[in-house]
Amino acid sequence: MKFKLFTIAICVFFSPQSGAQVSTNIPRLVKNGKHVQLLVHNKPFLILGGELGNSSASGNEYMRPIWPKLKQMNLNTVLAPVYWELLEPVEGKFDFSSLDTLIKNARLNKMKIVLLWFGAWKNSMSCYAPAWIKTNTTKYPRILDKNGTPHEILTPFNKNNLEADVKVFTRLMQYIKQVDNRQNTVITIQVENEIGMLPDARTYDEAANSAFNKPIPEKLLTFLKTNKNHLLPEIKSIWEANGSKTSGNWEEVFGKGLATDEIFMAWYYASFTNELAVAGKAVYPLPMYVNAALNRPGAKPGQYPSAGPLPHVMDIWKAAAPSIDMLAPDFYNPDFKHWCDLYTRASDPLFIPEIRFEKGVDAKAFFAFGNYNCLAFSPFSIESTDHPEAEPIGKVYDILKQLSPLITKYQPIGNVKGFLMEKDSIQKDIPVGDYLITVHHEYKMGWSPGAKDSIWPLAGGVIIAVAPDEFYVAGNGLVITFTPKANGKKAGFISIDEGKFQNEKWIPGRRMNGDQNHQGRHVRIPANEYSIQRVKTYTY
Ligand code: DGJ
Repeated sequence: MKFKLFTIAICVFFSPQSGAQVSTNIPRLVKNGKHVQLLVHNKPFLILGGELGNSSASGNEYMRPIWPKLKQMNLNTVLAPVYWELLEPVEGKFDFSSLDTLIKNARLNKMKIVLLWFGAWKNSMSCYAPAWIKTNTTKYPRILDKNGTPHEILTPFNKNNLEADVKVFTRLMQYIKQVDNRQNTVITIQVENEIGMLPDARTYDEAANSAFNKPIPEKLLTFLKTNKNHLLPEIKSIWEANGSKTSGNWEEVFGKGLATDEIFMAWYYASFTNELAVAGKAVYPLPMYVNAALNRPGAKPGQYPSAGPLPHVMDIWKAAAPSIDMLAPDFYNPDFKHWCDLYTRASDPLFIPEIRFEKGVDAKAFFAFGNYNCLAFSPFSIESTDHPEAEPIGKVYDILKQLSPLITKYQPIGNVKGFLMEKDSIQKDIPVGDYLITVHHEYKMGWSPGAKDSIWPLAGGVIIAVAPDEFYVAGNGLVITFTPKANGKKAGFISIDEGKFQNEKWIPGRRMNGDQNHQGRHVRIPANEYSIQRVKTYTY
């Protein structure tokens, strides 16, 4: 996963694999300081997204009433599948009509698209493979479980499976390039969907058994040796526990057991996916990622969809799939922070293609962009709401849209922080500008009618320091106090203004003083409100 250094130069580069000229103005990932940013039309872009339910994008009429909902929720990007079975219903005959309509409607609605390739695998299974693949199991074989029973999952150990998927994926990328190279409506590609091995930790088809007993690939050994001191703890500990061997088959190097079976599968799933990314990028190099179904704690490999780009096998994915730019978690598990920390611990960018569309998702969006510099946030089945105008996520997206230029400007220099507050949680002494701030849940003040409830709504927010003593605070349900970093001093507020950005210009509304800032003691955004406040401080 290598990212180009930040540049807004407009130029053209030559893609050696395809011989095609490709404009570097197409959406791309760049490194700006320590952070990775997604550039769209040469500007950093935060994906304020929503993913459609799996079948919605297959029906143009079905989609008609959905577009206005997406607009009402202030999405700037829709994550939508493109289905192999509809794209290539007959081998070698391609039908791009649904994709055309999707792109056309996204443009009409001023939205971007992250296209999800439902190809060889969708949530482990191969249900989106066209009939000509499904019915020819001799040519396109399946995985076999321990008992030799086949499942509707194409094996990654077969050349025909790979070639068929690469062929259609390449055709898809050619098509996107042809219709979208200038307008850049499609900004990122998800390759497959929640790849994962079931019901055992590995497949027992003949090709897989043979690969399992062969020496592990040189490429993986080189990766282990080269990155010996930076391996993530899960792979490092398994490798070291078996003597850090630099030759041998899978069980000799990693030991016998389910963990090794999963590592083995991860390598082959990742290698397969990498082939798609290599072929697709040779035509049209959009950013590409693979998403993961997070494993239930305590479940063993094979009991959960194993070997996808999960935290414990991330290193294997990175080694086998260097053309995949990001490994992305789908959030249906509790403990949002825990999983975000795992995905970002090696300084990888956070991209959230799916998160359960439920209460609290609004606060998590603030936290993800503020705390993890995340590139994309996207509740799943976004069209399922009957009241898009009232959805909290829409209010958050309205705010984040206004703040995007500031967030992306100040993130690379570490001037953006994010909060996620549950009942009784406090975030203490967070450095911003010349101050340390402490953040409480707003109910902590005890004034709010909900403060006596046993369950408090999640609260979230961001703060951006635009000067040592000037800040924008946005969120819901927060109380923030400031302490100067300089010893022995106290902080006061010169002014706090609630307002909004219009065309990147700050328009102040209410001057927040008196009861609204507890007579000058703190910055406050009530739990049921979403707002931006510009804060100027002084010390005494
Ligand atoms: C995660 C998958 O990636 C989605 O396509 C969808 O099946 C959801 N799960 C359903 O909860």
